[in-house]
Amino acid sequence: MSDYIKINSEDSILKIGFNRPDKKNALNSEMYYAVRDALVSASEDSKIRVIVLYGEGGDFTSGNDVKDFLAFATTKTSQENDIQFPAKEFLDVLIPYNKPIIAAVDGMAIGIGATMTMHCDLVYASTEAKFHMPFVNLGLNPEAGTTFFLPKLVGYHNAAEILLSGDMITSQRAYEMGFVNGVVKQSELMDVAINKAKRIAELAPTPVRLAKQMMKEHFIDQLIEANQNEFNSFVNRMSSPEALEAMQAFMQKRKPDFSQFE
Ligand code: COA
Repeated sequence: MSDYIKINSEDSILKIGFNRPDKKNALNSEMYYAVRDALVSASEDSKIRVIVLYGEGGDFTSGNDVKDFLAFATTKTSQENDIQFPAKEFLDVLIPYNKPIIAAVDGMAIGIGATMTMHCDLVYASTEAKFHMPFVNLGLNPEAGTTFFLPKLVGYHNAAEILLSGDMITSQRAYEMGFVNGVVKQSELMDVAINKAKRIAELAPTPVRLAKQMMKEHFIDQLIEANQNEFNSFVNRMSSPEALEAMQAFMQKRKPDFSQFE
């Protein structure tokens, strides 16, 4: 349990909300574990048929807490065998998840906030939503199987635009790329997501789960492998001088200076 995560079930729909609005819903360890645990129990609960992920307070999530990244980068080494990485443990549950998940994205969806939506089955974004995968900006490499899955979802050139430039994209651009299912008014976002969840929840549950499983079984092993490979590299990159410069710059509220690096 975590005060930073809101969990509500209504009929057969489980709503999981990121609830740390003063930090733009940045995800700390407690939040990753709370969402992971909620997903695991919903997956085993026959009453729950659809999950809706959303953010409280006008943002989806600004991604991993950069302060936690920095603490991790300065205290752990990649040689340690027992590295616990809450984001990875959350993704290990999310990526092969058995029930439909709908993301309702308002405001910022940054880093894992953007990449986790790839693993949701339907994604609705408000006109105010922005997606950002700033891995190059942070001296890191992509995570969450993005290097495999994003080109598959939006095509190589669109994926390169997102991942190599590290630029933010609007919900309209995300829609044009096929990254989201629909763009709706901010005031209608939750209703659209919940109504779609209700529609799916009325259907025969086994065929719905089978449809998800059968679409994904053609590539799920590659996706899991990509996530693992990206993670292995990510852990090394986190203590790289480029990443330390980027994370320290964020904490000090200044622009990073990468000019010294080859
Ligand atoms: N980790 C830790 N703290 C974060 C955060 C994150 N990912 N995102 C936002 N915050 C904190 C800010 O430090 C600030 O805290 P403070 O009030 O104690 O100073 C607070 O949330 C509000 O953010 P602020 O930057 O003042 O708001 P903004 O509207 O100017 O910008 C963002 C919002 C999300 C664009 C900006 O905060 C940002 O770029 N965050 C980092 C995103 C990121 O790199 N995530 C990791 C991806 S791997």
